[in-house]
Amino acid sequence: MRIDIVTIFPDYLAALDLSLVGKARRAGLLDLRVHDLRDWTRDRHRTVDDTPFGGGAGMVMRPDVWGSALDDLLVPAGTASGGGARLVIPTPSGEVFTQRHAEALAGEGHLVIACGRYEGIDARVAEHYRGAGHRVSELSIGDYVLNGGEVAALVMVEAVGRLLPGVVGNPESLVEESHGAAGLLEYPVYTKPPSWQEHEVPEVLLSGHHARIDRWRRDRALERTAQRRPDLLSALDAGDLDAHDRAVLADAGWEVVAGPGDGGSGGASHESRPAVVRRGVAE
Ligand code: ADE
Repeated sequence: MRIDIVTIFPDYLAALDLSLVGKARRAGLLDLRVHDLRDWTRDRHRTVDDTPFGGGAGMVMRPDVWGSALDDLLVPAGTASGGGARLVIPTPSGEVFTQRHAEALAGEGHLVIACGRYEGIDARVAEHYRGAGHRVSELSIGDYVLNGGEVAALVMVEAVGRLLPGVVGNPESLVEESHGAAGLLEYPVYTKPPSWQEHEVPEVLLSGHHARIDRWRRDRALERTAQRRPDLLSALDAGDLDAHDRAVLADAGWEVVAGPGDGGSGGASHESRPAVVRRGVAE
């Protein structure tokens, strides 16, 4: 996979030389290049921003400078090399970046990440490249405002990079982690020593009884998700929950109820899908 990152602070991305991502680069699994946006400016001051039309605080990044950079870096859409790169624009006003986005991006051949600063990049940039047939993703890493897209780019490259074949030594370790296919947070993990500061490792994990260990882990994942991320429970497919799962959820205050059906509103499915809801909360 190739990733180009464009920023006015290339040094910010130095962390991508380290750890698994750095190793993946050195192993040739990831061709990652960081570019200074100012290399595409044409004035003596290497200007990348200007005041916002319509007034308001702060500065906006100029579309002409970004256009020059992106024209150079984005393989034109519809070419033999795979339909062009995907343009990723980190922004607090984007869709929230999740593990599903990371998985989708890991399937791309080429990403170009455009890191905005100040009040962001002139909106015509995303519009222009969408119009030219590029896939453009405006993504936020969470509901808070950073000073620019660089930290978000680091987050995305790390989340995507570890999904590339050969990057994580044991691919099994990707299977059960939080935000995986099960839709649950990961269970708590322990290592040696078995007793530390009078805190003991749960007995079952020392038992060597794999079925009991799997069950215990799933129970803890369900409880933890109910406690910390109830929004994830509501999104679960109740059809994937067995009687034991339902009993654990009931203890945590959740129940599975018959779905509302399509209500004649034109939904594609005529099946009424069971839903996971907080006990006592009517649909
Ligand atoms: N740029 C500034 N804040 C951001 C956020 N929360 N996510 C992505 N990019 C950003």
